[in-house]
Amino acid sequence: MPTETVYGLAASIHRPDAIKNIFRIKGRPQDNPLIVHIADWSMLPPLVSSYPPLAKELARRYWPGPLTMILPKSPAVSDEITANRADVGIRCPKHPVARELIACAGAPLAAPSANLSGRPSPTCALHVLDDFDGKIPMILDGGASQVGLESTVVRVYDDHLQVFRPGGVTSEMLREVCADVVLDPGICQETAPQGAVPSPGMKYRHYAPKAEVILLVAKKEPFIRYIREHQGDGVYAMVFDGEKQYLSGNVIAYGADAKKQAHEIFAALRKLDDLGAKRVYIHAPSKQGLGLAVYNRLIRAAGFRVVTL
Ligand code: TXA
Ligand code: MG
Repeated sequence: MPTETVYGLAASIHRPDAIKNIFRIKGRPQDNPLIVHIADWSMLPPLVSSYPPLAKELARRYWPGPLTMILPKSPAVSDEITANRADVGIRCPKHPVARELIACAGAPLAAPSANLSGRPSPTCALHVLDDFDGKIPMILDGGASQVGLESTVVRVYDDHLQVFRPGGVTSEMLREVCADVVLDPGICQETAPQGAVPSPGMKYRHYAPKAEVILLVAKKEPFIRYIREHQGDGVYAMVFDGEKQYLSGNVIAYGADAKKQAHEIFAALRKLDDLGAKRVYIHAPSKQGLGLAVYNRLIRAAGFRVVTL
């Protein structure tokens, strides 16, 4: 199904067989829980054992939209969906087709992003077809995803919020509702490969093209110089719009501001595969506002290989 963030691979929460299939066809690690999608707030209370007033306030402000709230689950949500966790992630998407689909199904829909595990998330129907042609019964084509990267994932407590994955609802926006917003350190750095992580998606290298990716934190001039020195067969540079003119050879561009970068990043990473890139140097975005979400996806695409010039 299309959503305003990325496309999702959806199954009714009442269909354990379909939930199993999601894990199987994505090649998704069994310990990585699925987000449950609802059409409006009234569908939330049966899914949770309790919720703080702050959750309702966040929903009032940012739902429908790119915000997933992690709350204590009720027995209505199976252990398969939450990967045996006591909490469930819940989101009310904004895309009209997603909302209509949930209404038609008459049930909440569990849905991870509709990509093979590890691949860049899909922001149009064709990306889904690339990964799952012949493996799923149907794709609802709702056009290009408006935001372009996945929802903000937030654990909601009585008096504070912990952000596990930055997204379209920025931490600045969260602070408008709750003064105490904690960014998990795993957002911008590698977490220990073993042991418990608060949100399993944090620990995997993903969003990755087949090429080796290196993220370059640099101002324009040193960045351009570095690319010129490192160009070669199968080597690509992913630059901001407006930087292409300084370079020749294998160069693709993504947006110059965070909103455009969010919108274009996954299509750009997929394009690198189509071009047969072997190594890619990417100009790191600013970590301000929505930029933090773009940065978070890119360090994972890079397997945490970051070079600061
Ligand atoms: O925008 C989105 O969130 C998209 C669209 C389809 O709604 N969905 C999406 O799902 O990105 P997925 O499965 O690709 O990413 C869900 C992330 C994972 O990193 C997962 O670990 C985390 O949310 N997550 C889900 N449930 C959780 C839970 N109960 N506790 C901690 N983290 C959870
Ligand atoms: Mg995903």
